[in-house]
Amino acid sequence: MPRTEFDASYYRRFYSSNPVHDRRSVATLASAVHAMCAWWDVPVRSVLDVGAGPGWWRDWYRDQHPDVRIASVDVSEHACREYGHQRRDIAEWAPGRPYDLVVCHGVLHYLDDRRAARAIANLARATRHVLYLEAPTADDLRRVVDRGATDMDVHARTGEWYRSRLGRHFVQAGAGLWVAKKGGVALYELERTR
Ligand SMILES: C[S@@+](CC[C@H](N)C(=O)[O-])C[C@H]1O[C@@H](n2cnc3c(N)ncnc32)[C@H](O)[C@@H]1O
Repeated sequence: MPRTEFDASYYRRFYSSNPVHDRRSVATLASAVHAMCAWWDVPVRSVLDVGAGPGWWRDWYRDQHPDVRIASVDVSEHACREYGHQRRDIAEWAPGRPYDLVVCHGVLHYLDDRRAARAIANLARATRHVLYLEAPTADDLRRVVDRGATDMDVHARTGEWYRSRLGRHFVQAGAGLWVAKKGGVALYELERTR
């Protein structure tokens, strides 16, 4: 049962030396995700970063696409004060209007099953077209992640647990990209995983 407090010591521990990703790698990822949205003709006019932490997605959009309306939220009082986000718990909150692109990078594995399921439903409400989601599964935690850099005090769930819930609202395109079923993007059969 994780008891993570997202206070100053958490961000010092996981973001100062040897972070799992850094500003530069997030810039690479953000530019790839933005380009995939463009390929699918998704007009990215608004972006919501959920569990934004240091705010690197928000910063990339502000630098590279200042015309895009970007909102960043986090449950951590420290992160909100330090990095300038709105304080929101994604298990309890969804925005009043959807965003074209929603990012939830490295967040859901901190929530227990009940709260993670509610968070997925709220992410679905929040997403007009595309969700970028990264959350390590039990298998990733066992075999893939760098244990020296990764917070292992998290909820380990199967990929199927996530897929079955996300699949109610999204089509999985792969590489962390999920296309909202209610949006207008039609993927070719071999562009999607199922
Ligand atoms: C591993 S950090 C990821 C930060 C950032 N997304 C990144 O990829 O660098 C996890 C973040 O999720 C936030 N978080 C955890 N539970 C949350 C929740 N229920 N609602 C919103 N944010 C949450 C934490 O405060 C923390 O900033």
